[in-house]
Amino acid sequence: MNRIPVHLDFDTGIDDAIALLCALLSQDKVDIRSISAVAGNVPLELTAKNTLDIVCAMGQDIPVIKGADKPLRRPLHCAISHGKSGLGDVVIPPADREFDNRTIEDAIYETACDAPGELVYLGVGPQTNLALALKKYPDLKDKIKRVVIMGGCLIGGNMTQASEFNAYVDPDALRIVVNAGIPMTMVGLDVTLKTELPLWVIEELKKLSNPYAKLAVRIMDFSLWRNKEFGFDVANIHDALAFCTIVYPEVIQTKAYYVDVETEGEITRGMTVADFRNVCPDKKPNVDCAVEVDVDGFWNWMVNLFRSAEK
Ligand code: BDR
Ligand code: CA
Repeated sequence: MNRIPVHLDFDTGIDDAIALLCALLSQDKVDIRSISAVAGNVPLELTAKNTLDIVCAMGQDIPVIKGADKPLRRPLHCAISHGKSGLGDVVIPPADREFDNRTIEDAIYETACDAPGELVYLGVGPQTNLALALKKYPDLKDKIKRVVIMGGCLIGGNMTQASEFNAYVDPDALRIVVNAGIPMTMVGLDVTLKTELPLWVIEELKKLSNPYAKLAVRIMDFSLWRNKEFGFDVANIHDALAFCTIVYPEVIQTKAYYVDVETEGEITRGMTVADFRNVCPDKKPNVDCAVEVDVDGFWNWMVNLFRSAEK
């Protein structure tokens, strides 16, 4: 089977870290051409460090690029649920190599040009990096096969009543991406909130001795503990589901809608607004929105992936 060329963009972040580990373990299916970090859950210096440290700790030499340190035209709003460093109390040995020193625009463009019409772009943080690249290179849109995001939601939010965190942080960037004309899958809260991390998954991962599983367990344990502090019994590993859809598309069901993003609203900033009733007939559906998820299929996929790293 031909491997899918991918660029991965994270604001690492607890669930980003699990998504990254899953991606690194899926290299029989995906050819990870480049990885970038963006400011989001925590400032860029930390999301970038977390990303490079994880890639290096897992012994991988994929280029990691530092992207945007703030949204296109707003101050950065960070999350509170990932701890100060973005990875809670989990400490990873510092990377033994440097970042790829290309600009984020050039790196994304070059990666896309190296696999024209084939590249799948995964963005699981604010969409600032891809928006910057699309602004600098208008023909980039024709070189990317599909954009898959964790972000947005058809109904309700987690940042405000209307908007999901990644969409809220940089709605202007998401608006550019959604309207770029690239086929797009939105893995939003409508499905990611259904995949609550079950304890049996952690128990299964605890039986494993490979470094991927060991790191995942520490991150998941922190996430559950932290969420308890906030009064929740569950944790959601949103970003890993978005990655999963690239290698295991059947895990979700989608509906195509015309979607746009509210950038100005007083209470709706970052709202991903879908045309449910076809009241904009001149607008074609531009986003495949995830509406259902095979919850057991997702967790079994993840556990099997971490098992596959056992010698
Ligand atoms: C999204 O927000 C971030 O905090 C997570 O990493 C995820 O990408 C969920 O709304
Ligand atoms: Ca994220």
